[in-house]
Amino acid sequence: MESNTLKDQHLDYEILISFLDYLKEGVIVVDENKNILFVNRFAQRFLNTPDYEGKHFKEVINDNYLYSIISHDYDKDTKLEVNIDSSKYLVNVYHIKGKKIIHLQDITPFEIYKQAKKDFVSNVSHELKTPISVLKSAMETIEDEIKDSNILKFVDMAKKRINQMDSLINDLLILARLESQEDLVKKKKYLLRKQVEDIFEDLQHLTKDKNIKLKNNIPKNFEVYADEQKLSIALKNLIENAIKYNVQNGIVEVNAKTDGKYDTISVIDTGIGIPPESIPLVFERFYRVDKSRSRNIGGTGLGLSIVKHITEAHKGKVWVESQVGKGSRFYIKIPKT
Ligand SMILES: Nc1ncnc2c1ncn2[C@@H]1O[C@H](COP(=O)(O)OP(=O)(O)O)[C@@H](O)[C@H]1O
Ligand SMILES: [Mg+2]
Repeated sequence: MESNTLKDQHLDYEILISFLDYLKEGVIVVDENKNILFVNRFAQRFLNTPDYEGKHFKEVINDNYLYSIISHDYDKDTKLEVNIDSSKYLVNVYHIKGKKIIHLQDITPFEIYKQAKKDFVSNVSHELKTPISVLKSAMETIEDEIKDSNILKFVDMAKKRINQMDSLINDLLILARLESQEDLVKKKKYLLRKQVEDIFEDLQHLTKDKNIKLKNNIPKNFEVYADEQKLSIALKNLIENAIKYNVQNGIVEVNAKTDGKYDTISVIDTGIGIPPESIPLVFERFYRVDKSRSRNIGGTGLGLSIVKHITEAHKGKVWVESQVGKGSRFYIKIPKT
């Protein structure tokens, strides 16, 4: 019976080579002795001669990075990012049947896009901060001057919206900063209990409406190894949620334990809980379980993605266990060193 698979027809060498020449990606193949077997059209820009076949790579490779990548003997397939000329390349090194295959993808456009997006968010947020603070003080002046309670109702409404915008911009700026490489985690050892105490004090005003009780169960001498400012932002977000999404006379507890290698901090509430189908989504940007309910509670939908960012920057993990109507437990687990 006649077969039509490529394998049975011995896929034409010419077809393969023309295909590789069409690619807007580089392919270089060297043998065990690092003689060049093949260079596709795209990758020929890295050579000093078109006449490369059978030559040792040292004679023909122009670029220092590629030179060292080919020189180096990796013990497994490898992925690297390198700058060649003014472009950024993702380089994959594969080992197939004793041959080494170097595959180069130009990721410059993607890098430019990522940078542009970050710059945009951070510039727009900075630009918005000034008009918002002007609006805030204008509202305060009106509030002081006007006695008409009908008008004051509108002022109050405007103030709430302005504060919402302010939180949104602050959260966007925190995220933009976390994403930029300049903002590294600066870890040190410190006592956790005091930090939680300070956050409780900061958030005390939110507990009044529903008479929420805050419990700091962190042992007196419990030390964490973390970026103090960043972990504070993360815990503040979790504790604020635990208060906001709680019920009348609810309780919020913060605990910590260690296994010697990792510390686990938990923020536990007796609130409304999160339905199982929403649990995988709550750490996504702008995700809010119940849009209409959340709108009344106020928030940006960015808090938990900030928490996730900060935990991961600490090489840690964050997760949640929750039951609707019973409450939620958020955990942050970070290494001790
Ligand atoms: N402790 C909690 N209990 C119940 N739901 C929560 C809790 N924490 C977060 N959520 C849900 O996850 C969503 C995302 O949280 P977050 O990113 O902090 O945004 P925000 O609080 O601004 O809405 C919230 O809108 C809420 O629906
Ligand atoms: Mg929140």
